[in-house]
Amino acid sequence: MSMSIKQQLAAELGQAAGAALGVVPGDFQWQVTAANDPRFGDYQTNAAMLLAKVLRRNPRELATVIAGACEGLPACARVEVAGPGFVNFHLSDQWLGARLLGQQADPRLGVAAVPEPRRVVVDFSAPNVAKPMHVGHIRSTIIGDCLARVARFVGHEVITDNHIGDWGTQFGMILLGWKQSLDAARLETDPIAELLRIYREVNEHAKSDQAVLQACRDELVKLQAGDEENLAIWRRCVDLSLRQLREIYATLGVGFDHFLGESFYNDRLQPLVEDLLSSGLAEVSDGAVCVFFRDVPELADKPCLIRKQDGGYLYATTDLATIDHRISEWRADDIWYVVGAPQQLHFQQVFEVARRRGARAQMVHVAHGSILGQDRKLMKTRSGDNVGLREVLEEAVERARGVIDGKNPGLPEAEKAEVASIIGIGAVKYAELSQHRMTDYVFHWDRMLSLQGNTAPYLQYSYVRVRSIFRKLDDPGAELAAAVAAAPALADPAERVLALQLQRFAEVVPEVLDGFTPNALALYLHELARAFHSFFEACPVLKSDGPTRAGRLLLCDLTARVLRQGLDLLGIEVVERM
Ligand code: ARG
Repeated sequence: MSMSIKQQLAAELGQAAGAALGVVPGDFQWQVTAANDPRFGDYQTNAAMLLAKVLRRNPRELATVIAGACEGLPACARVEVAGPGFVNFHLSDQWLGARLLGQQADPRLGVAAVPEPRRVVVDFSAPNVAKPMHVGHIRSTIIGDCLARVARFVGHEVITDNHIGDWGTQFGMILLGWKQSLDAARLETDPIAELLRIYREVNEHAKSDQAVLQACRDELVKLQAGDEENLAIWRRCVDLSLRQLREIYATLGVGFDHFLGESFYNDRLQPLVEDLLSSGLAEVSDGAVCVFFRDVPELADKPCLIRKQDGGYLYATTDLATIDHRISEWRADDIWYVVGAPQQLHFQQVFEVARRRGARAQMVHVAHGSILGQDRKLMKTRSGDNVGLREVLEEAVERARGVIDGKNPGLPEAEKAEVASIIGIGAVKYAELSQHRMTDYVFHWDRMLSLQGNTAPYLQYSYVRVRSIFRKLDDPGAELAAAVAAAPALADPAERVLALQLQRFAEVVPEVLDGFTPNALALYLHELARAFHSFFEACPVLKSDGPTRAGRLLLCDLTARVLRQGLDLLGIEVVERM
């Protein structure tokens, strides 16, 4: 199994220094981190300081013993003690070069598979039927897709499930509007917009007219009681919305294994509530059914409502039934909910009830913030509506087209259209993924489409630039064969910096899942691209020859592959020319 530099160095350090100090393997977690200042070497450890407390010895003295024990390791060119007891490792160029060869030969580019794969359900996107998927849903969709991709890549068994809101009180209004003022033609061309129009129209009337409100309630009750006509209308609404949603997902390149919406759980709600009552976990309070958390301080005054006085079930009830299904049918070990931060209380309550019922899966609310317009308020259209996701994607592609027309006017028409779509959609995704998910970020067209800075177009352009080197070779196959025949010497400092950065891919990818932070991978790729550009300026590739040229081509090939693989984990495609 492949190990990252961090893991390998920690293992070798543990063995050598552990033996020298008499520390039993397993008694202490030997750890190294990448040094953030090259003056302090490539990696460092603070193990001496941690051990000093346990062993009651002087940390600098311990550091000296550790450094001495590591001197002879093949990984290390030089080991020094610094400050109060840090040990700094300067890696051997030869060792680093050999690792690059290993990375080159590995289809996973050095990223190890997890030793114990888990079955992970990722719940993301989940828009509500008959309401447009707005730009806020993009956060859940893009982050969720990225986490699913990374989890799969490191070897987990991933099930993606789109828990669409297809059974809410909004259907009372939609049913009434459908019967009174449906524009059938518009329903064909843009179903989500037409459903939204009738929903809004009825909603307006219901605000001022009690009779309308009552009529909506009657329609909803009929639907819930299984009225044939209303069920048929509801089914059409769901079908039409799903059809349009699938188009958007296709444009985004986002896939789901399941679309089990809220309605899927309808007939499981009553038995679930009865079970909660009979087991004593829930109780009747003012005619409603609630679960109280009297012993959980933050939730003491926040019971979870699972059946209303009028007998209606709630969002939480459905989520509890959903957890049962995911655990019993899918054998989920983990369930990740990629949903906006305002739903934090909801998930806290639902997870608590589920745990009391014995659910053993690890459930995590992977929360995210909002997207802001350039006025730093929630992003809205001029008329105050949520901005539609479809419109955003269309505009992104159009604007990307402008960028390409400026940069490479000679590109053939068909290629321009394809490139524009990849650049535009990549830009929107990267603007999201390069931020910490909890940050409220400003949606800024010019910034996200810029060819400079921390953007997708910059990374895609970097990829194009590396690939263009290979197009200039007379015989790329033969050159690449020569490049992998021997480890690169890494004589130039810029080559070494790039090599270390390439090797860090194996460290960064698994870290994305530690805190659910795709932005760590985005930042890494940005730094990789910058290291490549510095290397490319300092180290001529095509004008060099012999082993120097072979070593540089190896670095170029790996850079292209890590960029492409890394972007793929973010859900972003690359192009060969732009
Ligand atoms: N439909 C919900 C909304 O748009 C999100 C659902 C998230 N998933 C879940 N299992 N509750 O707010």
